[in-house]
Amino acid sequence: MKFTLGLAACAAVVVATPTKTVEKRDASQANAACASAVTLAAGSNPFSGRTLHANSAYASEIAAAMQSVTDTSILAQASKVAQTGSFLWIDTIARVPLVAQMMTETPCTDIMGLVIYDLPGRDCAAKASNGELKTGELAKYKSDYIDPIAAAIKAAPNVAVALIIEPDSLPNLVTNANLTTCSSSKSDYESGVAYALKTLNFPNVAMYIDAGHGGWLGWDANLKPGAAEITKVYTAAGSPKQVFGFSTNVAGWNAFSLSPGEFSTASDAKYNKCQDEKTYIDTFSPLIKSGGMPAHAIMDTGRNAVQGLRAAWGDWCNVNGAGFGVRPTSSTGDSLVDAFVWVKPGGESDGTSDTTADRYDSFCGHDDAFKPAPQAGQWNEAYFEMLLKNAKPAFS
Ligand code: GLC
Repeated sequence: MKFTLGLAACAAVVVATPTKTVEKRDASQANAACASAVTLAAGSNPFSGRTLHANSAYASEIAAAMQSVTDTSILAQASKVAQTGSFLWIDTIARVPLVAQMMTETPCTDIMGLVIYDLPGRDCAAKASNGELKTGELAKYKSDYIDPIAAAIKAAPNVAVALIIEPDSLPNLVTNANLTTCSSSKSDYESGVAYALKTLNFPNVAMYIDAGHGGWLGWDANLKPGAAEITKVYTAAGSPKQVFGFSTNVAGWNAFSLSPGEFSTASDAKYNKCQDEKTYIDTFSPLIKSGGMPAHAIMDTGRNAVQGLRAAWGDWCNVNGAGFGVRPTSSTGDSLVDAFVWVKPGGESDGTSDTTADRYDSFCGHDDAFKPAPQAGQWNEAYFEMLLKNAKPAFS
């Protein structure tokens, strides 16, 4: 993708039963679905008291990859990653049936995370994640993609769901309008995102509209136009009440809190005060709020353990030397930040390094990009093992 740049299990009440039975009962209750409809109220933190669900799709992907691994320490660490909560990307129409499956496996202790990512003309400023729908196929996006996702969520009102809405799309309209691919996508992106927000607006859902990262909309000249674009689409959708705010650093590499920031000595640093994601969120949030939209944030910390790896802030593809970052948590130390979450599934590629491939993007050939790398979304075992090795906190 990208351009430039504590469990609240329904506690069992058990009186005078043998310890063994108690343990058994606790375990089964921890895996049980909620007994009644979940209501996520805007203004509250949907991640507080819930664990981001460790979905079985990522776990299966890891398990399949581990079939050819014999190193016992890698196997042990990989199984811990599989048990860590992460978002599942619904990046094609073919993957939509996974949503219903995810709803059935999510216990009451958890919140399921899904990335909505299939706009017509997807990834307009890059090539690596160009999608299946062409510009102009908005009707298909609505009927074959958003509508069946909405039906699956509607059928599961007892499950808490967090949605990240269309990574990179609105930020691309703000900063890459000079590209024909982005200017011709504008209408589909705005109408598509508005339709998603309106149609997925169920009481058990918390939606976060993607807002790029500090090295993108955090530039002085981009902050206001960025907030204006996001709040415009939110308003056009009828200000759906299940929109909680925005997501940042999705599939990104920035630190949450780092001073001086990684790129603070660059010659253009004076034009960007948002040198870490905390500053970006704290700066962007009031602008979003003044546009009439709730303005809490969630941040992807899946691969940001190691800083100082990128030659330029805009380098986004398979950054070499990266490590798994802070595990998902709602303890962020910032009242504007609902949670640190894992969004990009570590081990899945950002884009191919094969220069002859259709979706080859030159960013995936930069010196700081790991090579070889398969197509975006495909498994890269060597990269996964590097993320494990460099994880902070370590997987011990
Ligand atoms: C990329 C890919 C997409 C994949 C996602 C998560 O953006 O284009 O297919 O699902 O990353 O790995």
